Amino acid sequence: MKIDDINTITVVGAGDMGHGIAECALLAGYKVILTDINRDQLQRGIEKIHASLEKLEKQGKISQEKIASSRNNLLSTLDLKEAATHAQFVYEAVPEVLSIKQNLFKQLDEWTSKDTILATNTSNMVITDVAKFAHYKDRIVGTHFFNHVVIMEVVEVIKGRYTSEETMQGACDMCVKMSKVPIRIEKESPSFIVNRVNGVLRVFLGAVVDKGMAEPEEIDAMMRYHGKPIGHFELSDYAA
Ligand SMILES: NC(=O)c1ccc[n+]([C@@H]2O[C@H](COP(=O)([O-])OP(=O)(O)OC[C@H]3O[C@@H](n4cnc5c(N)ncnc54)[C@H](O)[C@@H]3O)[C@@H](O)[C@H]2O)c1
Repeated sequence: MKIDDINTITVVGAGDMGHGIAECALLAGYKVILTDINRDQLQRGIEKIHASLEKLEKQGKISQEKIASSRNNLLSTLDLKEAATHAQFVYEAVPEVLSIKQNLFKQLDEWTSKDTILATNTSNMVITDVAKFAHYKDRIVGTHFFNHVVIMEVVEVIKGRYTSEETMQGACDMCVKMSKVPIRIEKESPSFIVNRVNGVLRVFLGAVVDKGMAEPEEIDAMMRYHGKPIGHFELSDYAA
């Protein structure tokens, strides 16, 4: 799928990550279909998108017209098949449970046209495992966004064993359309790059706190002093 042929993006899962990915796609001018198995979650996701758009407008980052067009371009449904059928690009943001993601990609594989790009927002899983029950594995790719999606610029784009170059390029191009910076990961391994590096830091800083050498707030203050936008423990409060 070429980037210019894409006009509709479906986002499966309207939680913390899904509503953020949907908002970024709206800001990039796409028609977005947001879907979830839970009606309340879907409604909450839509409300969060509306609230975030208004916040961006108050900060002078987008216009009233952009809010109106984004609201217009946002569709929602509880029917996954209906949502999948109409999209040229699908982002998955359901819970980090392998069986849920595998079943979802099996369904998406059946219900989308064969050149639709299917992206998983897994934090840690090997893409080839997520794609296990799909026939057309070449169009399945990892796109690891970070929380909060609208603010965080980097996206890890991960190649599975069967992911085609066209799919990788399409996923990277879509990141750029959403004003994100894609980091290509050619060799898949659990947790990719950022979470692996952070994992080591997490163990180290946890040991510092456990030994009573410093409080989490002190470590966070030190990290901010050294130029980090947010402290390690504060960030952990937001991340899944
Ligand atoms: N939250 C983070 O900081 C973060 C950061 C990067 C990546 N991730 C990854 O993103 C994914 C989503 O995480 P989240 O924090 O948004 O989760 P979340 O719990 O906030 O949202 C998940 C949503 O998926 C819905 N859902 C569950 N099963 C479904 C199904 N079969 N079909 C459709 N919808 C379904 C739930 O109702 C819920 O609304 C996970 O894989 C997670 O590891 C999370």
